[in-house]
Amino acid sequence: MPSDEDWEDLDPDKMMRSERKHEWISEPKYKRMFDDIEDALQGVMGRGKFEWVDRRVFDQVFDRSTLLALHKLMEQGEIETIDYPIARGKEAHVFRATSASGPMAVKIFHTTNAVFKGLAKYIDGDPRFSGLSRRHRELVNIWVRKEFRNLKRMRKSGLRVPEPLFNLKNVLVMEFIGDEEAPSPRLKDIEVENPSEVFEDLLGIVAVIWQTCDLVHADFSEYNILWRKGVPWVIDAGQAVTTRHPSAKEFLVRDVTRLTEWAGRKGHEAQVAESLVRVLDGPVPDLY
Ligand SMILES: Nc1ncnc2c1ncn2[C@@H]1O[C@H](COP(=O)(O)OP(=O)(O)O)[C@@H](O)[C@H]1O
Ligand SMILES: [Mg+2]
Repeated sequence: MPSDEDWEDLDPDKMMRSERKHEWISEPKYKRMFDDIEDALQGVMGRGKFEWVDRRVFDQVFDRSTLLALHKLMEQGEIETIDYPIARGKEAHVFRATSASGPMAVKIFHTTNAVFKGLAKYIDGDPRFSGLSRRHRELVNIWVRKEFRNLKRMRKSGLRVPEPLFNLKNVLVMEFIGDEEAPSPRLKDIEVENPSEVFEDLLGIVAVIWQTCDLVHADFSEYNILWRKGVPWVIDAGQAVTTRHPSAKEFLVRDVTRLTEWAGRKGHEAQVAESLVRVLDGPVPDLY
C-alpha cells in the first residue's frame, strides 16, 4: 500500500476521469433513497467550498453500498448533513459533517480504487472470479473496523486522536479536528516554532503507542498529524498493527526514521538508533 507521501505524487483528477458513471442511481429504489438524503448531501454535490467538489467526487465516493450506509446513518440521526470535503486521500475521502451534537469528520473509504478498477476488466465476466468485488468490499469494511478499534485503543491511553463515533460498512464517523472555520492543518503544512520540542513530543507519542497501546502506527508522518491549538493530533490509524505483528518492528523503524528525518529538515538533529531505543525502552510521558 502506498504511504501518504507516495500518494501526493498521484493525480486524483486523472483517476477520477477514468471512473465510470454509476447508472444504478436511476433505478427506482436507489432514486427514492437518494431523493431522501439529497439535501443532506449538498456539501458534496457542487455547492461546497472547494473547487474540486463536483459530480466526479460523488461518482468516485458514493457507490451503491456507501449510499445505503449513509442513508442508514442519516435515518438513525447519527449524521444530519455532510457539509464539505476536507481531503481526498489514497484510500478515502474525508468530509466535514454535522450531527445534532456538533461537527464531525466522516471518512468514506473507496470500495473501488483505481488499481482495483484496472484489474476489474480482467476479472469481471470470468465466472471463476465472481464474488471477488464483494470480497474486496468486505476487506474494506474490515479495514474500517480496524481503524475504529485502533483509534479507540489509542484514545484509551490518553493520546490525542479523534474519538471514533460510529462505523458502518466503509464509513467511519469520528470527532472533527479543527475549529468553526476549518479543519486543522497537517504538520506538513505548517512551520512549528520549536522543532526540538515537537520532536520530543512526537517521539513520546510513538513510545506510548508502542509501550502502552501495544501498537505501531505504521504510517506515522507529517501527513498524518494535525496541528490544533499548538498540539499534535494523530490520525489515520487504519494500518496500525499490534506489536506482535511479524513486521511490527520494521514498521516502527520506518515511523521513527521518518520522524527523525522530519526533525532533521527542521534543523533538529536526532539519531534513529537512539530514538528507537527510547521508544522501545525509555520512559513514556504521562498523558493524564
Ligand atoms: N478527524 C479529522 N478531523 C479533521 N480532518 C481530518 C480528520 N481525519 C482526517 N482528516 C483530514 O483528511 C485527510 C485524510 O485523512 P486520512 O485519515 O489521513 O486518510 P488517508 O488514509 O486517505 O490518508 C487528512 O490529511 C486530514 O487533513
Ligand atoms: Mg493519511
